[in-house]
Amino acid sequence: MTQIFSRISGTGRCLPERILTNRELEKIVDTTDEWIRARTGIERRHIAADDQTTADLAEGAARQAMEAAGVAPSEIDFLVVGTTTPDVVFPNVGCLLQERLGIGGFAAFSVEAACSGFIYALSIADRFIAGGQAKRALVIGAETLSRITDWTDRSTAVIFGDGAGAVVLEPSTEAGIISTHLGADGHYKDLLYHPYGTSRRQQPDDVEGPFIHMKGNEVFKVAVKTLEGIVDETMSANDLERGSIDWLIPHQANLRIIQLTAKRLGMSMEKVILTLQDHGNTSAASVPMALDVAVRDGRVRRGDLLLLEAFGGGFTWGSALIRY
Ligand code: COA
Repeated sequence: MTQIFSRISGTGRCLPERILTNRELEKIVDTTDEWIRARTGIERRHIAADDQTTADLAEGAARQAMEAAGVAPSEIDFLVVGTTTPDVVFPNVGCLLQERLGIGGFAAFSVEAACSGFIYALSIADRFIAGGQAKRALVIGAETLSRITDWTDRSTAVIFGDGAGAVVLEPSTEAGIISTHLGADGHYKDLLYHPYGTSRRQQPDDVEGPFIHMKGNEVFKVAVKTLEGIVDETMSANDLERGSIDWLIPHQANLRIIQLTAKRLGMSMEKVILTLQDHGNTSAASVPMALDVAVRDGRVRRGDLLLLEAFGGGFTWGSALIRY
């Protein structure tokens, strides 16, 4: 029997219109454009309008990806969204999208894995297509992190942004998605978290607000080490030599982290897709948006070998090796 792979047949992205620059942030918190550029690489980020939700951004990205793939909404039969900022607890963002796209009757759900959400979602959808249980999957990473950012905390306010990226996956006799690798370690739960949910009751002595809390410096060190591990794992699982990847499409958290990962892979920064200067850290949306930017500007071409990777709260992490 011929092995079935999944392949990306179209990509899309959606960013809110409002752009917040580092200079504007100088008026909101005690920071400088120079500090933000030097420590993170970020220059500006997009912020959702008051009435704009994660599903709005996800819908924009999904429609673009379907158009690029030449696939009608009615042909989609699997829908998974990586997000930590869903519109509501339920229905999940996937179900909200089904209603907007006028489709339904198949599995639609969200994956909550922080910044690794898209890689987790991609890995799941890939398995369903490779197993013959889905024919056309919409895989999305979408976030409105501005809603859970403490705009008085300079250590996090300068980092995050909003947006959504999407891909359509279809079956193919050639890879496609060659391998995906996922991991997590809950022992790091206190380094990066959002303390509010629906089940844990707030305690009288709780002083933390409903925002992202991050011990940036400690997260940085674990992120670098973990990403080294996941790229090594991906390369050795596929018998690849250093320098054999055409494009690294990393999670856009910090330029210094990305540079260290590229060095590990023996790649020059010309072969790394960078969007963090324009998008900031958009969590689950960052990798699919970076992919879409590179596909649309012609850098990523059919046949190129791509390495996607992400690391985020949990901690969670993941990678995907893809023949585009
Ligand atoms: N503007 C100016 N100064 C700031 C600042 C800001 N926005 N934020 C922090 N500082 C200050 C700190 O108060 C500290 O001052 P001190 O030395 O007087 O105490 C100094 O800058 C250094 O702080 P530190 O937190 O050590 O900075 P850093 O170099 O580690 O950079 C991050 C901070 C958040 C940019 C960086 O740690 C990071 O990117 N971490 C990883 C993020 C990540 O990967 N997340 C996972 C995926 S979401």
